[in-house]
Amino acid sequence: MQRIVQLLLAVTTASLALAASTAEINGTTSTSTKNDKTVLILGGGVAGIIAARTLVEKGITDFLIVEARDELGGRMRSKGLGVKGKRATVELGANWIQGTQEGDGPANPILTLARKHGVKTADSDYESIVTYDETGKVDYLDVLNNAVDAYTNLTVVGGGRVPTKQVDTTCRTGYSLIGVKPKTPQEMVAEYFVDWEYAQTPEQTSWIASSWNNNFTYDVDQGGFSEDNLLSVDQRGFKYLIQAEARTFLKPEQVLLNATVRTIAHSGDGVIVTLANGTRISADYAIFTFSLGVLQNDDVLFEPVLPMWKQEAIQSMTMGTYTKIFLQFKEKFWFDTQFALYADKERGRYPVWQGLDLEGFLPGSGIIFATVTNDYSERVEALSDAQVQAELLDVLHTMFPNITIPTPTAFFFPRWFSDPLYRGSYSNWPASFVSPHHTNLRANVGQRLWFSGEAMSQKYFGFLHGAYFEGMDAGERVADCVLSGGHCKSLPFVESVLNASPYIIQF
Ligand SMILES: Cc1cc2nc3c(=O)[nH]c(=O)nc-3n(C[C@H](O)[C@H](O)[C@H](O)COP(=O)(O)OP(=O)(O)OC[C@H]3O[C@@H](n4cnc5c(N)ncnc54)[C@H](O)[C@@H]3O)c2cc1C
Ligand SMILES: *[C@@H]1O[C@H](CO)[C@@H](O)[C@H](O)[C@H]1NC(C)=O
Ligand SMILES: *[C@@H]1O[C@H](CO)[C@@H](O)[C@H](O)[C@H]1NC(C)=O
Ligand SMILES: *[C@@H]1O[C@H](CO)[C@@H](O)[C@H](O)[C@H]1NC(C)=O
Ligand SMILES: *[C@@H]1O[C@H](CO)[C@@H](O)[C@H](O)[C@H]1NC(C)=O
Ligand SMILES: *[C@@H]1O[C@H](CO)[C@@H](O)[C@H](O)[C@H]1NC(C)=O
Ligand SMILES: *[C@@H]1O[C@H](CO)[C@@H](O)[C@H](O)[C@H]1NC(C)=O
Repeated sequence: MQRIVQLLLAVTTASLALAASTAEINGTTSTSTKNDKTVLILGGGVAGIIAARTLVEKGITDFLIVEARDELGGRMRSKGLGVKGKRATVELGANWIQGTQEGDGPANPILTLARKHGVKTADSDYESIVTYDETGKVDYLDVLNNAVDAYTNLTVVGGGRVPTKQVDTTCRTGYSLIGVKPKTPQEMVAEYFVDWEYAQTPEQTSWIASSWNNNFTYDVDQGGFSEDNLLSVDQRGFKYLIQAEARTFLKPEQVLLNATVRTIAHSGDGVIVTLANGTRISADYAIFTFSLGVLQNDDVLFEPVLPMWKQEAIQSMTMGTYTKIFLQFKEKFWFDTQFALYADKERGRYPVWQGLDLEGFLPGSGIIFATVTNDYSERVEALSDAQVQAELLDVLHTMFPNITIPTPTAFFFPRWFSDPLYRGSYSNWPASFVSPHHTNLRANVGQRLWFSGEAMSQKYFGFLHGAYFEGMDAGERVADCVLSGGHCKSLPFVESVLNASPYIIQF
């Protein structure tokens, strides 16, 4: 407490600081009018932009989005790739609308935005696939179909444990209990084609939460949108969808770009954010939307430090990494399907390939990309581009033994894990993370500091639509705070997360 007071006093002399700060500390009285802004929205990704839109809808316009990069969109991030005359926009981050809409059932809000802003998409067909292993092209589609069935069975049996209050375990335990024990490279890559979406292995993923995440997005009977996926091939970038939406309501003075947040001081009076260049901005409320990876790695410091129940929740959820590695060649020499699997002896070694040089996608682009996840992502991020390119060409040579693989005309991959603005690609729910942890991950700290972003979504963590719904929710809650004159309806939190039954050592 001593520390906050000192900080508040120090700040009163700064240009952008609180005019006077000796008023109420506990925030239960009416909203202060002395701060620079009513609300600071930290981060200009989907959650931040939708939170801003929600505030505007409630008549609150005195907010500022603070974003480190020079554009809005966050993990919707695109890049022009390729040689002159043959450049194409590819997606480094989010690319799919996952789960669309069935009939007049609930629509994925990202689909609604894509329709509204005319974003060009292609039907992503996971059955448009061919299979390879270390001997070249080999048909093991039966093994693949079996793995897809095995995952469906896993979500059903996992769901059966919920009403009986059986303890959660990893997906690996679940698979083993239903008798699915992949051993061969083909069986392992077939299983990978299911778990790559979580960017982590079955050993790292909660059986129950993975089943929820799958059901609530893809299973119409469970409230999901649909089984279908659309892939953005829009040459303005998939980010166009959220940038165009932002343009419908956002005023220039409501956004601060190129502004990296270093510290967030919070108290009953509000928040004071300090940027990397020393500028301080105060506000009555802050909505934090930076990634879970940023929270976990102290890239932004809180004053005072976050309570232990919050820190435990932050450090108990996990951040996965999903890495797309792009190659452009003069001419296409590969498969005509949308996907190909490559079964290596080592699980996760360049397993999934997607061709973009296809009618309806980016015909004539000569672009193909491989995806790796988590541990393998961290590995390739530590290598040089040249080393990674050489490994990819080696795998292509294995897949196409009778073709002389030409030198690529372009090569690129993003390093999400090393990037201090992300520290990974999206969150994943591990088996040791229990529901009260999630309650704590989402909970506000004091009345002034609120948390949003994909990781806070119980149903849709990891997804764009998770970020969207969490942005809406945080916007509504903070609008309630403002409109009620500071009578916030706090989210619940759990001081200590307890075991249902104690761990006992028998001597
Ligand atoms: C490789 C990859 C593939 C993906 N594929 C899909 C997909 O196909 N479909 C799907 O639905 N989802 C996908 N996702 C997930 C989806 O992109 C995210 O869930 C979503 O974009 C998260 O939005 P957000 O607003 O929560 O966070 P973000 O988009 O991360 O927004 C937070 C913002 O805060 C900024 N920021 C961070 N630190 C600071 C700081 N210190 N100071 C100032 N600003 C800061 C960041 O630059 C960022 O703009 C993918 C993500 C990745 C990385
Ligand atoms: C908090 O606010 C309430 C209501 O205004 C007041 O009665 C109380 O004394 C305050 N507590 C502190 C610690 O300032
Ligand atoms: C942000 O920084 C970039 C690169 O330094 C610069 O080109 C751009 O004009 C800046 N944008 C704003 C809005 O300050
Ligand atoms: C999935 O469950 C069905 C019904 O119990 C069973 O017939 C099938 O063999 C299972 N498939 C796999 C791959 O486990
Ligand atoms: C997922 O959906 C299946 C099929 O509808 C259902 O049987 C199962 O209980 C659900 N799983 C969970 C964890 O809710
Ligand atoms: C610090 O950065 C912000 C955001 O880019 C900018 O508006 C401000 O002028 C900068 N202040 C200084 C002192 O450089
Ligand atoms: C590759 O060449 C070998 C030897 O010429 C031949 O036996 C094999 O069928 C060829 N494979 C393919 C996929 O064309």
